[in-house]
Amino acid sequence: MLEIWGRNPLQGNVKISGAKNSALVLMAGSLLCPKDCRLRNVPSLVDISRMSQILTSLGVKLTKNGDVLDIDARDINPTAAPYDIVSQLRASFFAVGPLLARFGTVKIPLPGGCDIGARPVKLHIQGLQAMGASVLIESGIVHADVKGSNRRLQGAKIYLDYPSVGATETLLMAATLAEGETTIENAAQEPEIVDLANFCIAMGAKIYGAGTNKITIVGVDRLHSVDYAVIPDRIEAGTFLVAGAITHSEITVSSAIADHLVPVIAKLEAIGCRIINEGENCLRLIPGELKATDIETLPYPGFPTDMQAQFMALLCFSEGNSVISETVFENRLRHVAELQRMGANIRLKGNHALIQGVPFLSGAPVMSTDLRASAALILAGLAAQGKTIVRGLHHLDRGYEDIENKLRKLGARIERVTESN
Ligand code: UD1
Repeated sequence: MLEIWGRNPLQGNVKISGAKNSALVLMAGSLLCPKDCRLRNVPSLVDISRMSQILTSLGVKLTKNGDVLDIDARDINPTAAPYDIVSQLRASFFAVGPLLARFGTVKIPLPGGCDIGARPVKLHIQGLQAMGASVLIESGIVHADVKGSNRRLQGAKIYLDYPSVGATETLLMAATLAEGETTIENAAQEPEIVDLANFCIAMGAKIYGAGTNKITIVGVDRLHSVDYAVIPDRIEAGTFLVAGAITHSEITVSSAIADHLVPVIAKLEAIGCRIINEGENCLRLIPGELKATDIETLPYPGFPTDMQAQFMALLCFSEGNSVISETVFENRLRHVAELQRMGANIRLKGNHALIQGVPFLSGAPVMSTDLRASAALILAGLAAQGKTIVRGLHHLDRGYEDIENKLRKLGARIERVTESN
């Protein structure tokens, strides 16, 4: 568990790690390539270790040295992914697109639900079917095959009912090796999509329009070796900016791309802080008097659902009434009950949280309910009076590299302790 003594001012600079959600999909994307792939700026996280285990079970050879990950997917078996690891990591489903594109067949257990909602994969599967795959789900396992002599997926026109990040990534990867041209309309536009497209382009793929809502992919016969650096983690950067705001501290975050943080910066400014872009991917947060604002989560470039919990912690301290509407996931407000334990004044109405700012929160024992909720509870603890104890750190360790050391270097009083029974 983490013990946090609140109300210590922070100062200094924090360096942001590589993006978890990019690194995970790039690791899967390396399955497209029967040559050496080198990924740089890969964070050390439990989710990355799980993805490594899944790739290893397929026969991939992996070597990690610091933040450099070498991937050799020459000799692999597209049907060998084991249920016990796949079920622990939803991103494991990313392997479907590349394996089907390269081998014409794949077998992988369904990822199942998770702590923030059901998270279906219907859009991924419908898109693969449009590209000529036959997909059968039996006993919780997805079997996908491409018929025909060359077993190649065929380019197709695909319209996504919703701009799903995962479906866009699956179909983009699948289309790189398909025969002919694929268009994905109503595609997700997240920076991680652009990163994946750039990674595939660096391997020789032909992709146009990533970062807009229409992506065109012209299939190629094969991809080649690549050496590629993952983008910085915009959610980690946003979380540290909120840490500055909530503790009224001036801090800088380096290795953060301002363009990826536009909605987060806009909301921090609406709440009363200033963000100065110091160039070279460095942002300075100047704290201000915190005031209420309304937030609605949306697909990019809307406000990210992955920053919703952290902003809720901040709005608990902001003067006036705020409304947070969670529109992306159906079960992503469970941190409300934990913040209430600390004295927050929040009412839930469906997917809306009505927050009335209070002058202070009190430290309390709290339980993380998912990855970003755990960050929100740490942020609340940094600003609360007294000691907060955050349990359920397996969520936190999935997605924040070394967070307590990074916070401690900024001046926070935070310790990881092992509970004795
Ligand atoms: C990714 C991110 C996650 C982030 C989310 C939204 C990774 C590993 N995870 O998740 O951190 O919170 O984007 O920015 O990159 N949906 C369907 N049918 C489908 C697919 C999705 O209904 O076939 C729904 C989901 O249930 C959800 C919404 O679409 O309500 C968004 O999901 P999606 O964009 O696919 O998120 P993920 O790729 O799972």
